[in-house]
Amino acid sequence: MRKLPRRIRPTAVRALLATGLAGAVVTTGLAGSAHAASTLAGSAAAKGRYFGTAVAANHLGESAYASTLDAEFNAVTPENEMKWDAVEATRNTFTYSAADQIVSHAQSKSMKVRGHTLVWHSQLPGWVGSLGTTDLRTAMNNHITQVMTHYKGKIYAWDVVNEAFQDGSSGARRSSPFQDKLGNGYIEEAFRTARSVDPNAKLCYNDYNTDGQSAKSNAVYAMVKDFKQRGVPIDCVGFQSHFNSASPVPSDYQANLQRFADLGVDVQITELDIEGSGTAQATSYGKVTTACLAVTRCTGITVWGIPDKYSWRSSGTPLLFDNNYAKKPAYTAVLTALGGTTGGGGGGGTATCTTTYARTNVWSDRFNGQVTVTAGSSAITAWSVNVTFTSPQKVSTTWSGTPTWDSSGNVMTMKPNGNGSLAAGASTSFGFTVMTNGNTNAPTVGACTAS
Ligand code: G3I
Repeated sequence: MRKLPRRIRPTAVRALLATGLAGAVVTTGLAGSAHAASTLAGSAAAKGRYFGTAVAANHLGESAYASTLDAEFNAVTPENEMKWDAVEATRNTFTYSAADQIVSHAQSKSMKVRGHTLVWHSQLPGWVGSLGTTDLRTAMNNHITQVMTHYKGKIYAWDVVNEAFQDGSSGARRSSPFQDKLGNGYIEEAFRTARSVDPNAKLCYNDYNTDGQSAKSNAVYAMVKDFKQRGVPIDCVGFQSHFNSASPVPSDYQANLQRFADLGVDVQITELDIEGSGTAQATSYGKVTTACLAVTRCTGITVWGIPDKYSWRSSGTPLLFDNNYAKKPAYTAVLTALGGTTGGGGGGGTATCTTTYARTNVWSDRFNGQVTVTAGSSAITAWSVNVTFTSPQKVSTTWSGTPTWDSSGNVMTMKPNGNGSLAAGASTSFGFTVMTNGNTNAPTVGACTAS
């Protein structure tokens, strides 16, 4: 399996995550709650794009998972269920049950399906690597033919070939049974076979670390250019877009999408996730969304999972929903960039805000909590959040806000220090230290009210 650079986190935070002490609670604004809120799918559709997510079949039975999927997304990518090891673990015996579950769910909700993936060096059963050249060619074309025939007419776009290039400065092809035995021509052959099976599915090349200009993306670019010049069937390029602090959104992200689009292919953001939290994460998500919207041929965005807890790198909390399916500031940033509105609805410029809570430090006798307040789709001039603590906890200090307390001493109303103005989608945070006195419960963060 490939390795992405991972962000180094402070040990304390890692320990917290490992013990499950760090939590997140999000509440939505009160104002306008009677109006229908906009969604990722709805606001993307208004811009002529889809908004998708990776889906795992084994979570579809979880009601919060399915209801979030159905409410917010209009495209899905099976996260693992269509990979070679899932559908053809044994030569010529095809198993589609898990992938079928996802496809039928998607069809029942009129969602697009991205097929992922036909030819990839990873999650490849051992028998494929043991074949001789002629046999491998037959097996590759048979795999493409069988799987695409099974799903013919149901797939919007296929990742025909995935991650065929090396990282680093060489621009070379990655070693794999296909590359090593069939040579450079295997990619072209896979695309030609795919076109012959389902001429209506868009055929994509998909890769990571190709999100800005680099030796690797230049090599992919040269291949796509060559394919277009010679009439090899290719319709789209997928940019996985797995980001973290060691591998942030490149400054030339939009320009890179555009140069591929200029070759005459669609571009899609196919596996978006960005490790981090709060405003920094939200800002990066906003940038990616804005970049796609600025490129006419960027047809949609897919995030690589719904709640953080089901991410392939869950400790980096890289997704738009927290473990309780509450919308994170990153969600609001994407929605706002898509032109959607949070809660307020009606286009009347209603002031709303949302909050995210995180436990940021912990010691034997106390912990620090942080609440991030994010304005909705309209600018706000003031906000107020109630935070309720459990007796015998006592707050010893607060920062970045002005607190008042109720008579019980357990409910704090936090308001801005001075000017409470936030631009649409912008965030600010306040914090506090809780002396546990033996009780480590997270505080309850109430609704955020804005004006
Ligand atoms: O389902 C089995 C379970 O039965 C078993 O007990 C467990 C023990 O290891 O493994 C489970 O399978 C895991 C599977 O995810 C489902 O959770 C595999 O080990 C694990 O390797 C697999 O990881 C997937 C990874 O691709 C494999 O390369 C991730 O879920 C998936 O998100 C990730 O997705 C890839 C894209 O396909 C291509 N681009 C990069 C992206 C992230 O790595």
